[in-house]
Amino acid sequence: MKVFQIGAAGGVGRRLTQLLTARGDSVTGMHRGPDQGESVREAGGTPVIGDLIGDSVDDLVQKMQGHDAVVFSAGAHGTGMDKTTLIDGKGLQKAADAAALAGVTRFVLVSVFPDALRGGEAGEGFEHYIKVKKSADVYLTRTGLDWLIVRPGTLLDTPGSGRVTAGQAVEYGDVHRDDVAAFIDAALHEPRLSHLIVELTSGDTPVADAVARLAA
Ligand SMILES: NC(=O)c1ccc[n+]([C@@H]2O[C@H](COP(=O)([O-])OP(=O)(O)OC[C@H]3O[C@@H](n4cnc5c(N)ncnc54)[C@H](OP(=O)(O)O)[C@@H]3O)[C@@H](O)[C@H]2O)c1
Repeated sequence: MKVFQIGAAGGVGRRLTQLLTARGDSVTGMHRGPDQGESVREAGGTPVIGDLIGDSVDDLVQKMQGHDAVVFSAGAHGTGMDKTTLIDGKGLQKAADAAALAGVTRFVLVSVFPDALRGGEAGEGFEHYIKVKKSADVYLTRTGLDWLIVRPGTLLDTPGSGRVTAGQAVEYGDVHRDDVAAFIDAALHEPRLSHLIVELTSGDTPVADAVARLAA
């Protein structure tokens, strides 16, 4: 499979590139900073510079053409509400429109639990982020793409266990970036995981079994 990753130099993106290329997929890793190309290459991908804010839909179409799938794990990462709107919101819309125009129908979006950090500790910027991510989910579900939305819990950098809880509605919790990447790697190669929103936390089920259960 030829996979186009947006956000390839990020925490989930780098881990996913490693898994995909280890199984023999070819990955084009879109990154924004010129200095991030080396990290994409080290993970096994072919770097391509791109910016969800500066690039037009046509620019993205050119980059995506010839791929079999897009994985979107980019994010503004708390750099401001305007950036959240432009990257997590409008950026996702541009990427989905570009994928459709490029004929790349399989599209996996890394989203977020709508109930993340409930209970008063979230500030205005976080509330905005949650709203923008939800609207991005809505946008993607209304496209004609072969979409899959993965909503991970709070991401952890510590080593994953390879075990998760995954379902259409699960209780909110943490999840290791390693395990998010492992889930997407497996889910991307399971065509029955389509037109589905999956919530994902750490758990007891091996990733392959979790994907097989959802597919069944
Ligand atoms: N943090 C959490 O607990 C949490 C929980 C649930 C879901 N999520 C979601 O999980 C996803 C992946 O998380 P992560 O840990 O991999 O995030 P990350 O490490 O911040 O990676 C995001 C990547 O997106 C890139 N990016 C930002 N703006 C861009 C633009 N305009 N054009 C192209 N690329 C751009 C970043 O590049 P730069 O280095 O240039 O900024 C970065 O490499 C995000 O969508 C996030 O919303 C996060």
